[in-house]
Amino acid sequence: MASHNPAPAQLIDQFGRTVDYIRLSITDRCDFRCEYCMAEDMTFLPREQVLSLEECARLVKIFVNLGVTKVRITGGEPLVRKNAMWLFEEVGKLDGLKELVLTTNGSQLAQHAVALKKAGVKRINISIDSLKPERFKKITRTGRLEQVLDGLQASIHAGFEGIKINTVLMRGTNDDEAIDLVQFAINHNIDISFIEEMPLGDVTHNRENTFVNNVDTLKLLQSQFNLLPSTESTGGPARYWRVADTRSKIGFISPHSHNFCEACNRVRISCQGELFLCLGQDDKVELMPLLRANPNDDTPIIDAILNSMKIKPKGHDFDLSRAKPAVVRFMSHTGG
Ligand code: 5AD
Ligand code: SF4
Repeated sequence: MASHNPAPAQLIDQFGRTVDYIRLSITDRCDFRCEYCMAEDMTFLPREQVLSLEECARLVKIFVNLGVTKVRITGGEPLVRKNAMWLFEEVGKLDGLKELVLTTNGSQLAQHAVALKKAGVKRINISIDSLKPERFKKITRTGRLEQVLDGLQASIHAGFEGIKINTVLMRGTNDDEAIDLVQFAINHNIDISFIEEMPLGDVTHNRENTFVNNVDTLKLLQSQFNLLPSTESTGGPARYWRVADTRSKIGFISPHSHNFCEACNRVRISCQGELFLCLGQDDKVELMPLLRANPNDDTPIIDAILNSMKIKPKGHDFDLSRAKPAVVRFMSHTGG
């Protein structure tokens, strides 16, 4: 078992924010095609343009040595990547890492939940936008709700420290399910977060029409449940509430209604090895060429990461009313 003495924090940006959290996308592929996330006919990257799992492991290790203590593996759908479990095992062993967590659509969890827990994954976020099979199918275009619920059950049995549902509400599609989804989370002793739809990627629908404000969702839920404000913070855009007399928390991830950038503690790494300094900005450093040119020497990669702190932007500038998305890359590219 790895000991958990973090390396000294070395990633500090020009605004004094310490980066101790990385989100690594290990594939742009997914077995679902969620309406707000992907186009129906996505073209995925050829294999050689994607970081190998060995390169992923090498990068994570470098970041952990620079003081990163939390790693989230994302995608696309990370569990559709062949041998993904090897990476979880490698990362889970790293000295200094406190939290290994996963964001998944749940489709492969029935097979992998036990192994993920064993590898050291602490918490899992599972995306569920509807509890109605037909509607789930429509939103994900290819997903089967039953398969995801089986994955959720397997995860509950595997005994993770935390399981959270991630829900994106869209007006006219699933905005009538907020209460049911919260009740479902309560019944299963798990948490739920509502994520406001972000203008990432060029999808077909007009987001100004479908956007559901978390302020309205909170009001609706307060009329139904006794919610107690929680001071908990992840250094991210989430605000949490406890549901009184239950074991569940409700999070609201509100890039539009809150400015959370001041406390930002994270960077993202795409499956192509692009180090993105902000989800809502294009500033990045290409790490793949450095990894490939220096197979036995981490110094150039470490230097590039340290230097990237100088260009971490102060904040994002999402604006739903713009004709074009602020950032044209899809979430599946950057890593949710
Ligand atoms: N806006 C908000 N959330 C999104 N996700 C994917 N694309 C978007 C978007 N454009 C969500 C998924 C998943 C999480 C990683 O990000 O539903 O729960
Ligand atoms: Fe796949 Fe997640 Fe995107 Fe849906 S939101 S298409 S599950 S990556």
